[in-house]
Amino acid sequence: LDFALDAKVTSVRARLNVQRNGAYDRPLRLDGDGLSALEVLVDGAPANYEMDGPTLVLHLTGDAHEVETRVEISPETNTQLMGLYVSSGLLCTQCESEGFRRITFFPDRPDVLSRYSVRMAADAVRYPVLLSNGDCIETGALADGRHFAQWRDPFPKPSYLFAAVAGDLQANKDSFTTMSGRKVDLGIWVKAADVPRTAHAMAALKAAFAWDERVYGREYDLDVFNIVAVDDFNYGAMENKGLNVFNAAYVLADPDTATDADYDLIAGIVAHEYFHNWSGDRVTCRDWFQLSLKEGFTVYRDQSFSADQGSAAVQRINDVRSLRSYQFPEDAGPLAHPVRPECYVEIGNFYTATVYNKGAEVIRMMATIAGAEAFRKGTDLYFARHDGQAVTCEDFVQSIETGAGIDLAQFRLWYSQAGTPRVAVALAHDAVAQTATLTLTQSLGPTPGQPTKAPMDIPFALAAFDPETGKCTAAQLARLQAPVTTLTMPNQIRAPILSLNRGFSAPVIVEAQRSAADLAFLAAHDDDPFARYEALQQLMLDTLLAAIKGAPLDPAPVIAAVADTLANPVLDAAFKAEAILLPTEAYIGDQMDCVDPDAIFAAREALRHQLGTALLPQWRAAQADPLGMSDDLSPQAKGARRLHGVALGYIQAAGAPNTATLAHAQFTQATNMTNRMNALFVLVNLHAPQREEALAAFFTHYQDKAPVIDKWFSAQAGSLRDDTFDTVVALRQHEGFALTSPNRVRALIGGFAGNQRMFHRLDGAGYALLADTIITLDPINPTTAAKLTPPLGKWRRFDTTRQALMQAQLERILATPHLSKDVFEQASKCLG
Ligand code: ARG
Ligand code: ZN
Repeated sequence: LDFALDAKVTSVRARLNVQRNGAYDRPLRLDGDGLSALEVLVDGAPANYEMDGPTLVLHLTGDAHEVETRVEISPETNTQLMGLYVSSGLLCTQCESEGFRRITFFPDRPDVLSRYSVRMAADAVRYPVLLSNGDCIETGALADGRHFAQWRDPFPKPSYLFAAVAGDLQANKDSFTTMSGRKVDLGIWVKAADVPRTAHAMAALKAAFAWDERVYGREYDLDVFNIVAVDDFNYGAMENKGLNVFNAAYVLADPDTATDADYDLIAGIVAHEYFHNWSGDRVTCRDWFQLSLKEGFTVYRDQSFSADQGSAAVQRINDVRSLRSYQFPEDAGPLAHPVRPECYVEIGNFYTATVYNKGAEVIRMMATIAGAEAFRKGTDLYFARHDGQAVTCEDFVQSIETGAGIDLAQFRLWYSQAGTPRVAVALAHDAVAQTATLTLTQSLGPTPGQPTKAPMDIPFALAAFDPETGKCTAAQLARLQAPVTTLTMPNQIRAPILSLNRGFSAPVIVEAQRSAADLAFLAAHDDDPFARYEALQQLMLDTLLAAIKGAPLDPAPVIAAVADTLANPVLDAAFKAEAILLPTEAYIGDQMDCVDPDAIFAAREALRHQLGTALLPQWRAAQADPLGMSDDLSPQAKGARRLHGVALGYIQAAGAPNTATLAHAQFTQATNMTNRMNALFVLVNLHAPQREEALAAFFTHYQDKAPVIDKWFSAQAGSLRDDTFDTVVALRQHEGFALTSPNRVRALIGGFAGNQRMFHRLDGAGYALLADTIITLDPINPTTAAKLTPPLGKWRRFDTTRQALMQAQLERILATPHLSKDVFEQASKCLG
């Protein structure tokens, strides 16, 4: 590839050495998207070709040829952010899935692996740094103030892993010596002013290198590993071979701008992209239906990495929380699809919570069934067998089966059947025989295109506790394979209390009638921390659902369980803070046949108020803990800050008269972003002058730090105040809002669509606002526009008034001329 780079017009010359693959006689088809060929040469001579729509078709006579094309592209008008584009003056690329065809003509599919040699030439002042995959083998000056760099990547790779970046960047440089003693040069390239904010990402990167050696035996394979931060990016980051490109929001951190959650997220994403070097780059996907081969496995790997860095229990809670808030609704709605989808209109719509997060759960279940050591044998075999290949999910499962020595025949259904399985649990106790018999009945409802399902293979961890002694009387990993599984546990003097799906061993919905007393017992005594969290959540959920159905709210059991949790000396602050949060409005809605956003809000606020009032001294105590306002990055201090923030929220819920003063004082005294945001999250809900003061001060102080301003927009979009809709409408006109910035759109509009009560206003204005944004954004950035659509697909779960309003907006979107296939696919599936 030969790039003459320029923001206005970049010329791309591609020379492909092609060889006929077997005895085929069909022409060579090179994918293109928006390209027109200025030159087409075969073996150096002008060639005859034809265009089939966007695709260039060449009739080649021999079995091996050199095919050369030249095109011109315009990075500065590329607002889709796929292919080569400009972000804050930087030239950068994003190719996965099908962006490479917007750069040059190429067989743009992941099973075409090639060795790339890349020459980049550009203005030396504007673009002093020129980066691509692999090793830089030559640089030099050219005429007219231009310069060049020549890069070569020794590893064959698919086109989606190509990357090139040109700009005025500075690097934080470091190195890592691999387990075989090779020194790798590491660089994180950012704007000069941001170099001091890369230390955390660098530390995470080195930790990830070491972790993959230790846990998976995987060593890095090039002499250089570079990361570049760009402001405008459709996703979190991208694992291009040797040159990861990151959304700047997921690289840059310092205490003044990043919250503790941001620090953890950054480390997780840095690790995720690095881990792709083996699970994605060295072994890649045969086709895009296999996307979960690399994404599910890599998410599982990054989750395991994060669990090793801090509290494994809190990591698991957060992973399950996000699975339940994004993937369960997907599986329960019109966009449900298997982990390995069977069809798509636009593959960009399949970078979903199902492919990523449920995909990770599927890998986790295999690891659970196999056990850690055997699982490692399976992954070793997978990497040994398939290094350098483009393979399938089936290849992965076979490697685990053989390497780990387990039978996964029925388990494969997790890849092909969509929907979240349910497991209903019934208990029968026989006092004479002293046995407890469990009947576990699984079911899996219909999903689009899959009316009937076969029974799944579910690893289901459970335990029994004696209600009097509190002792664990039985524990096992049951494997549910039949529609109904019966288990008999001996030595059960009394009917036991059941701890179910411990550690969230399978991504299923458990249906068990457990009393408030049993749940409170588990919340206080279960030795599995996830099950403990789960029991308290279930107790809260049962309480809220009863109140929503019209029973008087009975807060006492929840208050007692929360008080117990707070007082428990065995538990750390980080765990306590997660365990005592009420389920979100959306999650409560997901449990209802017909979602009533106002009733959910009212019941949840009432319970929050009760908790706030009843435990006010505890909340004040958590607020008084000096560690909760410290800048220390130790796990203890992070936990204390989290609890401190949750406590402030409960103080507000109590309606304590000094809330505004307290929150504003915290806002101004905070020396880190965690404490500052926790104060702002409370202030945005209030009608108080301190709210406006804080928002104005925040904006002024951080105007030039885009990811921080995103927080400013999303905090306001998430406000509980009745006028939040008007605020969002006004913020759309704010000078800081721009449809060209995916982060900003997600912060304001995505944030608003996640504010259940506001978005589902009975007048439909929330739906119209979202549809307006989708329609206006679609011609600019269809990827991001399509990602905003799913909330409108939830209409089936609402009352007829809201149903009609949501459908009308979907129809309006679909009636828009020149709609992208991205939005078309999402909106038409949502409408059903
Ligand atoms: N592979 C990237 C990652 O998971 C994300 C790329 C997203 N691409 C897309 N077309 N949605 O790290
Ligand atoms: Zn990934």
